[in-house]
Amino acid sequence: MTKQEEIAKIKAEKNAVILAHYYVSPEVQEVADFIGDSFYLSKLAQGLENPIIVYCGVHFMGESGKLLSPQKQVLLPDLHADCPMAHMVRKEDVERCRREYPDLAVVCYINSTAQIKTWSDVCVTSANAVKVIRNLKNHNILFIPDQNLGRYVAQQLPEKNVMVLDGYCPIHDRISVQELHELKQAHPQAELLVHPECSAEVREMADYIGSTSGIIKYATESTNTEFIIGTEVGVSYELNRKNPQKTFYFPKTVPVCADMKRVTLDKILHVLKTGENSVHVSTDVASAAGYPLQRMLELAN
Ligand code: 13P
Ligand code: SF4
Repeated sequence: MTKQEEIAKIKAEKNAVILAHYYVSPEVQEVADFIGDSFYLSKLAQGLENPIIVYCGVHFMGESGKLLSPQKQVLLPDLHADCPMAHMVRKEDVERCRREYPDLAVVCYINSTAQIKTWSDVCVTSANAVKVIRNLKNHNILFIPDQNLGRYVAQQLPEKNVMVLDGYCPIHDRISVQELHELKQAHPQAELLVHPECSAEVREMADYIGSTSGIIKYATESTNTEFIIGTEVGVSYELNRKNPQKTFYFPKTVPVCADMKRVTLDKILHVLKTGENSVHVSTDVASAAGYPLQRMLELAN
């Protein structure tokens, strides 16, 4: 039996479901029941009937799945697959800002630990950040942890005072303007599609800025046939699957999230067989961190 067949067999026996983010390896996306961006996966997890969810992504994703579906067993193939940005906030900075601005809303990107979510009023993903923040009554907003996405939201919503701290995604932040210019010169017809976690200089060059699913949708619906992609290379699996006749170019320093790539078929098999790596959130953290996530789902709909 192949690993893929074994995964399918145990999954069926245990009534488990496999969710995967667009950044995990192609062979992992192939065995997944659902593939998507952070917003889609968090909404989906809540509505599924399966008692076991294997979450192929980084730790905050499994944790968010558990916060939204506390009665389910959420298994992470690799507990060490962690998003470095998810930790890039200090509580004292959030508290100082709350003291300075009494009407402050602390808006937390879903790419954050459950602990950091407990300091926040509402969560967002890159797909719904602008919409959710526009729907808040507060004028003063502290956006944590991603300063790039926070600045992008600030540009879209000039009527709000959106403040940021110093967190960032190391993978997106180092996408090079120079390498993108070289690609544009080599492929003048290609449109540049980038994730809002990229630097301001990269965003300024872009023809489209959006979440992973936004980038895939844009490329799929466009009449153009060539695209330069400014996000993690894992999206190429879905981009090529949906658009076999189109061409996608990535920067020569290929953006690879090593944490996302820690998820393998062997690790999926192991957690399915053993039930190990079950995500645990303590009861007090769970109620305080679940609230901003639920609020996101309400405000985004
Ligand atoms: P999306 O919400 O666009 O899927 O992005 C998740 C992520 O980790 C981006 O770095
Ligand atoms: Fe975190 Fe960046 Fe990896 Fe996304 S790509 S999981 S933000 S390190």
